[in-house]
Amino acid sequence: MEKVRGILDQNAFSMAHIDKADARIGALVRKRLETVGPTSMLFYEEPLHIVRGERVWLFDDQGKRYLDVYNNVPSIGHCHPRVVQAVAEQMGTLNVHNRYLHEGIHRYAERLLDTLPRTLNRLVMMCTGSESNDMALRLARGWTGRQGIIVTEAAYHGNTAAVTEVSPSSYKQGTPPDHVHILPISRMSEQADPAAWFAEQVRYGIEQLEARGHGCAALLVDSIFSSDGIYADPAGFLKPAVELLQSRGGLFISDEVQPGFGRTGQGMWGFSRHGVTPDVVTMGKPMGNGFPMSGLAAREELLAVLNADVGYFNTFGGSPVAVAAGTAVLDVIAEEDLMANATRQGEYFKRQLQDIQARFEEVSDVRGAGLFLGLDLCDPTRDGAPDAQRTTALINDLKRNGVLIGGAGKSGSTLKIRPPLCIERSEADLFLDRFEQSLRTTAR
Ligand SMILES: Cc1ncc(COP(=O)(O)O)c(C=O)c1O
Repeated sequence: MEKVRGILDQNAFSMAHIDKADARIGALVRKRLETVGPTSMLFYEEPLHIVRGERVWLFDDQGKRYLDVYNNVPSIGHCHPRVVQAVAEQMGTLNVHNRYLHEGIHRYAERLLDTLPRTLNRLVMMCTGSESNDMALRLARGWTGRQGIIVTEAAYHGNTAAVTEVSPSSYKQGTPPDHVHILPISRMSEQADPAAWFAEQVRYGIEQLEARGHGCAALLVDSIFSSDGIYADPAGFLKPAVELLQSRGGLFISDEVQPGFGRTGQGMWGFSRHGVTPDVVTMGKPMGNGFPMSGLAAREELLAVLNADVGYFNTFGGSPVAVAAGTAVLDVIAEEDLMANATRQGEYFKRQLQDIQARFEEVSDVRGAGLFLGLDLCDPTRDGAPDAQRTTALINDLKRNGVLIGGAGKSGSTLKIRPPLCIERSEADLFLDRFEQSLRTTAR
């Protein structure tokens, strides 16, 4: 398998740069390593010490402000006062594990399930996207009696042992386990008929997993393919593959941790752009706008199989405070019309980035839906090869220029543009202006 640049390696701080760091930052980095240790990742050549957030802005300890086009957790805006107030009030009233009755959980579940296809009629609540994908794998395997899973080549679905196996972007060495089939999504841009090609890849995956004796339990994809480098179009390209998979008894798990809660603009969920009905939907990050909460929606009979086997309990999942945070998020998405804003600003971003693409030969592609865009960087002097070095240089230069952004993609050469859904036109213009400046500064 061709080496995939790990999602956790993208723009990761390296100790090799510690001597270049300001003394204050260097001391904090050392303290962190001496306490939380090597699994604690940091971003940027010189890590950032953030002390405050508001809407689309983050502020460092020196008072410098940064436009945040990276973070999709505070999706309705950093420290949204509605969420802050809802959490504080509920925290001061009651917060216990979820084995007592409380009304909030039913109201929230009903409201969220209303946004999903009718067949997805139950909502399980947890705290992280990893936990929801972990349960999705258990449901698929329990329901089908098969073990094999198809995932894309630079996918990231979380950090439990089972989920790491289906997250190729986390593998630092070795090859995927035998029961995991890798779908080479980066080749999709070369295809004349992406939908037919994707379906063919899934057919091949099912056959491979059957031949190896595992069978295919599920196709698990992030429906905007975030860590793979963002593949949104043509809308509907997943449909033939999902229909084929479901006709063979496999489950389609749509990981909505990234595209969910309105980010793609046209609806609450990324999968709806593809006209498919998932068997399981997993969600997290933006669900609580920073409050750790996640969920899994599925048909009741799937959950009954798991329950008959091991049961399930999650101490903090669906706690009164989590539900208060989640309810405030749904209210704000509706009241501030954030999906319409995601469509409007997303289209503006895309048009302007395409204009930049026409003027800078190193920008080779612009893709995306709503406020989730990917921009590829290439090296025109090397036959247009993907340029991860330039991407990293841009990420760090933009940071110096007051803009936070991240990278994605199999070769780490895609810039991921994913601002809070409340971003305004003037803030989009500021990004575009700084981005063009950084393209010039980092030119070879
Ligand atoms: C698509 C996707 N799924 C699942 C996860 C895991 O979520 P968490 O970090 O909350 O466990 C992530 C995290 O980045 C993700 O991007």
